Amino acid sequence: MYLFQNRLVPKSQVAVSPDDRGYYFGDGIYEVFRVYAGVLYEPEAHLERLERTAREVRLPLPCPSAELAARLEELIAANGLKEGTVYMQITRGPAPRSHAFPAHAEPVLMAYCTVLERPAGMMRDGIAAVTMDDIRWLRCDLKTLNLLPNTMAKQYALDRGVSDVILHRSGTVTECSASNVMMVKDGVIRTHPANHLILHGVTRKVVLRLAREADIPVRETAFTVDELRDADEVFITGTTVEVTPVISVDGQPVASGRPGPVTRALQQAFERTIPGL
Ligand code: PDD
Repeated sequence: MYLFQNRLVPKSQVAVSPDDRGYYFGDGIYEVFRVYAGVLYEPEAHLERLERTAREVRLPLPCPSAELAARLEELIAANGLKEGTVYMQITRGPAPRSHAFPAHAEPVLMAYCTVLERPAGMMRDGIAAVTMDDIRWLRCDLKTLNLLPNTMAKQYALDRGVSDVILHRSGTVTECSASNVMMVKDGVIRTHPANHLILHGVTRKVVLRLAREADIPVRETAFTVDELRDADEVFITGTTVEVTPVISVDGQPVASGRPGPVTRALQQAFERTIPGL
């Protein structure tokens, strides 16, 4: 079952207009929630980010976010989802194609569940990544449907036989195609500050809290590609990747080329936040 507007319907009954602004302009916003043991993980943080994005792009939410959370829980129950994700998007709705925001558009909400196991192999063995220019706009903190540069970045990585890209602006590392990136040097975690150049990841926030609780020093200051190459450890964080080690960058191993102790400690700490484990 899908959630379409405020009703649970079969996928075949999700009818979206070809005039939807999401289709014309990518004019919409979204969230990807993790579901563990049938329960939404950190729903408040996701809904807060959704509300912020909605406000910034002036897209009225169809209902208050507490109501949205209740609808998503109904969706999860209707699908009997235990382990997976919920994707939810809200577009500005149908209107004849014109750049200006329409005076009377009705937002269109659509959400569905996907069964997804935790990425055990990747988390154990780590992934390879390549660096790439971050060619995105200057509001990467907004979770909008405009993901063409992110899809191009992911494909760039896959075409080179690796899992993901590490994006940088003129040598300053920002994030990955669909996750945040952190490095460890001399026991200190570093990651790009949560400003307009990165998505403020929910997992990033959880991991930084766990690091502080474990007395691992954290510096939310940007680092360069050169510093990345010289890191003791590199890992990415995100709803679907949790805490995944990066073991090589541009074909060069990160330190020994094996996941490091800080990454392992954070993986274990993260696991303890997962309900039902
Ligand atoms: N992506 N950075 C970008 C560009 C992202 O798209 C995401 C999430 C993250 C990590 O955020 P979080 O920890 O809240 O998942 C960072 C989702 C999963 C997606 O687009 O599929």
